[in-house]
Amino acid sequence: MISPACVLDVQDLHVSFSTEEGTVPVLKGLSYSLAKGKVLAVVGESGSGKTVHALSLLRLLPPTAHIDSGKILFDGKDLVSLSPSSLRKLRGARISMIFQDPMSSLNPVLTIGEQLTETILAHRKISKLRAKALAVRLLKKVGIADAAKRYDQYPFQFSGGMCQRVMIAMALALEPDVLIADEPTTALDVTIQAQILRLIKELQAQAGMSAVFITHNLALVADVADEVLVLYGGLCMEQAPVHTIFEKPLHPYTQGLLHSLVSIRQKADFLPAIPGNPPVPGQECPGCPFAPRCPRALKKCFKERPPLFEQDGHKVACWLLEEKA
Ligand SMILES: Nc1ncnc2c1ncn2[C@@H]1O[C@H](COP(=O)(O)OP(=O)(O)O)[C@@H](O)[C@H]1O
Ligand SMILES: [Mg+2]
Repeated sequence: MISPACVLDVQDLHVSFSTEEGTVPVLKGLSYSLAKGKVLAVVGESGSGKTVHALSLLRLLPPTAHIDSGKILFDGKDLVSLSPSSLRKLRGARISMIFQDPMSSLNPVLTIGEQLTETILAHRKISKLRAKALAVRLLKKVGIADAAKRYDQYPFQFSGGMCQRVMIAMALALEPDVLIADEPTTALDVTIQAQILRLIKELQAQAGMSAVFITHNLALVADVADEVLVLYGGLCMEQAPVHTIFEKPLHPYTQGLLHSLVSIRQKADFLPAIPGNPPVPGQECPGCPFAPRCPRALKKCFKERPPLFEQDGHKVACWLLEEKA
């Protein structure tokens, strides 16, 4: 049973890829729940499984990937076993996604307006004229000046930041319950990044939408997220309210990430990145995936995977927390 305040409940999700070297597990038991009207940031280094997790939510994984086990509960249904036709109805209408590269998500031979209107008409039984009026309103809402004129232009006439605004308009067109944004600002320059983040946050709050905000950059989440989940090697290392993550991180990995951030802010000459490399999928130790890089690892950490110890809504997968739990 999932609580009414929870819109999305991911339970022990295991996803793997079939490769020439055999089956490679990428998500190894990811669990979280997303509360109504809240933003959960999923933060992790490149290769930690952020995009695979996002694609799993809507079953948009490539054919070589499979969901081995676990549940993704949304509105009383398990998305893992939902029929393709029911899933199609949910995509866009109830759960929407924004991807990293706005340029490649738009069709270059259709006008911006045609693409927006098409999305609206695919899910709503309204006239073309009303769909067009709604599309123009949406373009205005995401801050595109001269929206009626811009409606008839093609993606190449838009900058990267404007294309991402269009993608946001498209994701919001059907007033979804959940917005999944996979590194939505990574392809943009820093000032535009800040504008786009503010826009997503404003629109999310206005609409009372829930959102999963995915990023490799912990610095970006402070102003956006209510809750943060730190992903490493396909596993949740730590999850807590955003202020707890920044003020009282408990996992040595989260502490390392924050330490690097502080050094960037202080413009230190020497940037103490966390020594070592992220685990290579399929070649991890049986214990905690962070153990080989962890300055405080115990013998046990290499042998046994720690469970998520939880106290007052703060979850940490670390044996150092065992006694305190
Ligand atoms: N098409 C694929 N074939 C095989 N392995 C893949 C494929 N796509 C992703 N992976 C594996 O899944 C891991 C997680 O990828 P991804 O979710 O894209 O990482 P992130 O978004 O966190 O950077 C990668 O390290 C890679 O090994
Ligand atoms: Mg990714």
